[in-house]
Amino acid sequence: PDRLVVAVDGTSGSGKSSTCRGVATRLGLRYLDTGAMFRAMTWWMLEHGVDVHDPAAVAARCAEPVLESGTDPAAPTITVDGVDVAAAIRTDAVTGSVSPVSTVPEVRARLLRLQREIIGADVQPVGIVVEGRDIGSVVVPDAPVKLYLTADAAARASRRAAEQGAADVAATEQLLLSRDAIDSGRATAPLVMADGAVHVDTTGYTLDEVIELVVGMVDRVG
Ligand code: C5P
Repeated sequence: PDRLVVAVDGTSGSGKSSTCRGVATRLGLRYLDTGAMFRAMTWWMLEHGVDVHDPAAVAARCAEPVLESGTDPAAPTITVDGVDVAAAIRTDAVTGSVSPVSTVPEVRARLLRLQREIIGADVQPVGIVVEGRDIGSVVVPDAPVKLYLTADAAARASRRAAEQGAADVAATEQLLLSRDAIDSGRATAPLVMADGAVHVDTTGYTLDEVIELVVGMVDRVG
């Protein structure tokens, strides 16, 4: 296709980021992590003392932060007002507040515009792998490849806890499940399996096996 977008959605901790970066690297594509954009917005709200559970307060300020996302899969970058926040957006404080911020329609509208600008600029000539919760359903509904990644909650929690060196797997699982519930239950652009998406349950597979499967799907449409 002349517009190679690989749209990857799914539940929290299902292996989206590692899969998308691996696929983009293998195929020489760009990579956009839209979750990082929602996290960066949330980081800015916390920094500025905005109550993340007050949608009107979040909506009133969400046009202010200047977000920039780099799309190199080997070294994805994200800055807010020129500050590198790649590490700051992975803290528990941000992870615990990002789903409420992401329910606010004004936040989604602003980030949707930004996402489409980045995708439009990068899709030619190489193509781009885009991950999030509403990529195949809302951001790029005409993407030629759409995936919906899930995994058992226990598997997701133990992978995530191992990544973070966290001892409390049960607490990690609770946090993943509560984000999934908010992300799936919101009115605007909820997490759903998009029309035409292929569902991959990654529970029993290694990262390399999932990357191989997706590379094969992209090769078949390319
Ligand atoms: O993918 P990641 O876990 O970094 O995403 C963080 C949060 O950002 C998600 O739990 C969800 O609330 C929000 N998000 C979203 N739409 C996207 C990507 C992420 O609402 N396209």
